[in-house]
Amino acid sequence: MVKHRPPYFLLTLLLSLLSLTSPYHSAEEDTPITRFQQYLRFDTAHPNPNYTAPISFLKTFAQSVPGLQTQILEFTPNKPVLLLTLPGSNPSLSSILLNSHLDSVPAEPSKWVHPPFAAHKTSDGEIFARGAQDDKCIGMQYLEALSNLRSKGFVPARTIHVSYVPDEEIGGLDGAAKFTASKEFENLNVGFVLDEGQASTNNVFRVFYADRTPWNLIIRASGTPGHGSKMFDNSAMENLMKSVEVISKFRESHFDVVKAGNAMIGEVISVNPVYLKAGIPSLAGFVMNMQPSEAEAGFDIRLPPTADPDLLKKRIVDEWAPAARNLTYQIIEKGPMRDHKGCPLATATDDSNPWWSIFKQAITAAGGKLSKPEILASTTDARYVRQKGIPAFGFSPIKNTPILLHDHNEFLKDTNYLNGIKVYKSIISSLSSFEDGSY
Ligand SMILES: *[C@@H]1O[C@H](CO)[C@@H](O)[C@H](O)[C@H]1NC(C)=O
Ligand SMILES: *[C@@H]1O[C@H](CO)[C@@H](O)[C@H](O)[C@H]1NC(C)=O
Ligand SMILES: [Zn+2]
Repeated sequence: MVKHRPPYFLLTLLLSLLSLTSPYHSAEEDTPITRFQQYLRFDTAHPNPNYTAPISFLKTFAQSVPGLQTQILEFTPNKPVLLLTLPGSNPSLSSILLNSHLDSVPAEPSKWVHPPFAAHKTSDGEIFARGAQDDKCIGMQYLEALSNLRSKGFVPARTIHVSYVPDEEIGGLDGAAKFTASKEFENLNVGFVLDEGQASTNNVFRVFYADRTPWNLIIRASGTPGHGSKMFDNSAMENLMKSVEVISKFRESHFDVVKAGNAMIGEVISVNPVYLKAGIPSLAGFVMNMQPSEAEAGFDIRLPPTADPDLLKKRIVDEWAPAARNLTYQIIEKGPMRDHKGCPLATATDDSNPWWSIFKQAITAAGGKLSKPEILASTTDARYVRQKGIPAFGFSPIKNTPILLHDHNEFLKDTNYLNGIKVYKSIISSLSSFEDGSY
């Protein structure tokens, strides 16, 4: 055998040189991992995501899956929604929808160890890319799972839809909002939705039954101007700073509940100052010997579905921006708080919701564990379907992984990704076999 070693060694060397010099992996390699890497290499980061190429890539993949129908919907020019449909054997049942978004937040390449749109895989199997966790992983895993199930002749009872929507990261107004409000969506007769979740740092998957609703609050103060040396009451700065103090106390009291372990971060109202605007500009910076007549501050507020929005508005009027202190305010509500029936936007995680137990059992069947359901601290497109009264969970099958969405060096390990396909196979086959016609 010894005499075979030199040529074998040379061949290996040649092959590894070839794969080093090729920009992507060698052409004949086509695996779930290389397909995931290909999808990650489409730069769909804001502010200028171009959805044409990734949609065409996904569509081509979907067309290779027997029986999977594809259609492209466009509610706004250049903002396509790709919709895949695997018809069920019992069309009288409501369908299930698996959603993901095509876009991502921007990346600062200089702060990354590997370029954010190269999808470089390390020797440990970590795939670095913007979107690796949020949420191009699930978009491809849905397809891989369906492809896998279909290759074994799987036919669902319920129709399965997969949607790829634009612009989630900028609020989804031209994406999920228009899609879910459309006649086309109505015709899908969706009974249950899965959307993105978040990574878990331990061995247990996380699941989200609600999002918090964002509000932007702007407080503007006016007051008596004067010389920087003068002590007087009711300057604009003083009026605004009093607000900042009151709001900081409110923030602290809610944060303390979380720090004490009595609530999860998604269960409390958060309020964070995000900008301060005041002062009279000068060539060197700001005029230092003048107290300005106007000042302004901006706050990011997040309300869990359990919060009373009217109570918070009253607090803003009475305590945070009272007119008596010459303050005015503006609240920009960035999404609904209640569904079409006036109920909080939350999906039940008890026996009243059969989808919950099916989902939970499917995770167990795939060898996974689920942690206590959470309210997502941020916001996803799931709110638009919950607003229509459709039950929806946020779920990404990522465990033992640092939470790196929107962060530098976002990555997902290959083994984690592949395990996620297995988990979705279990979830998809269980959900789509649920034959109770009242859901
Ligand atoms: C988007 O990308 C496609 C090719 O993938 C290109 O033909 C098209 O011009 C691009 N659109 C814009 C607005 O840049
Ligand atoms: C509010 O503005 C009015 C009119 O400029 C002024 O008389 C009053 O003192 C101000 N009050 C406060 C609390 O700033
Ligand atoms: Zn996302």
